[in-house]
Amino acid sequence: MSSVTSSASTAQRKASRFPPIERTLRLSTGLLLFTFAASHFLNHACGIFRLPTMEAVRFVLLWPWRTLLGQTLLYGSFLIHGGLGLYAIYRRRHLRIPRGELFQILLGLSIPPLVILHAVNVRLGYQLFNLPLTYPWLIYRYWELSPFVGLPRQFLLLLVLWIHGCIGLRSWLRFRPWYPAWTPVLAALATLVPILAMSGIIAAGRDFDATAAQDAAFRGAFARLQTPAEAAALAKIGETLILIYLGLVGAVFAARAALDWRRRRYRAIAITYPDGARAVVPRGFSILEASRWAGTPHMSMCGGRGRCSTCRVRIRSDLAALPSPNVAEANTLAAIGAPADVRLACQLRPIEDVDVTPLLTLKRWETRMAASRPVASNEHEIVALFVDLRDSTRLADGRLPYDAFYVIDKYVGAVCKAVESHGGEVTSVAGDGVMCFFDGGGDPRAAARGAMIALRDLWISLSELSVEFEAAFDFPVRFGAGCHIGIAVVGGLESRRAVQFLGEVGNIAARLQALTKEAGCAVILSRAVIERAGLPVPALERRSVQIRSVSQEIETVAFREREDFADLIGHEASRGPGGAAGSGRLRQV
Ligand code: HEM
Ligand code: FES
Repeated sequence: MSSVTSSASTAQRKASRFPPIERTLRLSTGLLLFTFAASHFLNHACGIFRLPTMEAVRFVLLWPWRTLLGQTLLYGSFLIHGGLGLYAIYRRRHLRIPRGELFQILLGLSIPPLVILHAVNVRLGYQLFNLPLTYPWLIYRYWELSPFVGLPRQFLLLLVLWIHGCIGLRSWLRFRPWYPAWTPVLAALATLVPILAMSGIIAAGRDFDATAAQDAAFRGAFARLQTPAEAAALAKIGETLILIYLGLVGAVFAARAALDWRRRRYRAIAITYPDGARAVVPRGFSILEASRWAGTPHMSMCGGRGRCSTCRVRIRSDLAALPSPNVAEANTLAAIGAPADVRLACQLRPIEDVDVTPLLTLKRWETRMAASRPVASNEHEIVALFVDLRDSTRLADGRLPYDAFYVIDKYVGAVCKAVESHGGEVTSVAGDGVMCFFDGGGDPRAAARGAMIALRDLWISLSELSVEFEAAFDFPVRFGAGCHIGIAVVGGLESRRAVQFLGEVGNIAARLQALTKEAGCAVILSRAVIERAGLPVPALERRSVQIRSVSQEIETVAFREREDFADLIGHEASRGPGGAAGSGRLRQV
């Protein structure tokens, strides 16, 4: 099977002093284009302070881009970045890829036709027909002449370009240690810039109208700037360039299809996984592409860019038959000190049959990733729920340990089922205390609702169990639950293959649960959870409680009766596990 003397020995794995050229080029040209877009959009935002301000700021902000160096860098970056994008599509042997990556590619592909139309009108209009490069002229063109086609198209370009850039920046920065702390600021900027830019353009358009209303000659001066023949000539150039671009994209896809057909026909290779599954793919596929093609879950947190190492596989067949690692792969493998038989699935393109064991593949993680839920550590609002079984110490009294185990097992099973069927994660089970959290896929309202519905269903399930346990073991089920919403760092613990969260929200939920004993009730929710779920705060027992090491008091609502809780959620909720409401009432202390 595996031979350890190979071309890919650890000695050869020394990190290159030079970062891979393709990655560096893509990143630097992308950053340059993003800088241009950001300065351009901020310039648009100045329209909020009227057209003359916008125009004055343009002289300063866009000056560097009008110099020969600026123009060369801008258009050069555009061509290089776009070219690398097309090459990456050609190299990606298929498009069975996570939705996020596909979205990024589609956004990237749609930028050139939109930019071409704009740049031809602006830059070639200036070069060929001496049209002005000023905001008043362009506002006239879009706002006055083409409010239903040209203007929305500019807005679309603005959004597509900005989102594409932000996704790219995020995938570059998200593994930096400081990133989670900066996420709120970056998210605010990412949202504000395009909104301000579009508001600026709308304000400038209205300013244009107002000036034209006062000065009859104002609009006429712009109307005479460009003849219909010039406009038609620019439109023709734009159309031709777009056709060339579409031809190029078509050629890339056609070349890829032809290559695949040839390779599949003449040079297919088989990749075998530990469970015996095989992916038969054309030579040239990376192992990650083969896994995706075959529908085999395979971690790839950086999207196949050779940065994160989560796609790594252990090679179980002849290492000598594999191509040596490229620079990107060698650098990443060296950084994690990988042994000789470990390779990056996203970079390795085998030329012979190969047996691999994905080292970090975990179906649950993969499913979560596919649903684009947070897996990489990041900080956001979650709902923590802590559930505890009362009197569990009494369980051991005069009973067989097996019976006690059975009761605990059923109870933990009921909690897990209720939580997981409403989008929650159980992060720890310590004896009879179960800690869970809900992130609502990044939506705090969904998280709060999920937690409350899970709690309602759990209460029903435990009522049913209570009837069974009371009859069989003279042990009616009594439980306590505390629930709070707050910021936590959520991430996957690689060593435990589990999702975990860290934040005082968990301690608060556990403390609220402890308070249920003193208050003699089953459930204590913080008021924030109910409000976040968009539900009215019921007129039940409300208290502000001070929790050790938490600076502010927490406002809480206590629930004694299952019906009160069910009434609060009532018609909102879908019935989860637990079926019909149980006849047994939980007897709370
Ligand atoms: C309604 C929205 C927009 C307006 C009113 C507008 C306006 C302008 C103006 C006034 C210029 C001339 C700048 C100068 O050289 O001083 C320009 C150039 C340019 N804009 Fe826009 N722009 C808009 C949206 C966009 C978007 C979303 C992009 C995407 C990147 C973009 C890309 C460009 C490019 C490539 C140039 C050519 C730069 C040059 O050759 O000097 N524009 N635009
Ligand atoms: S997917 Fe990140 S290194 Fe391969």
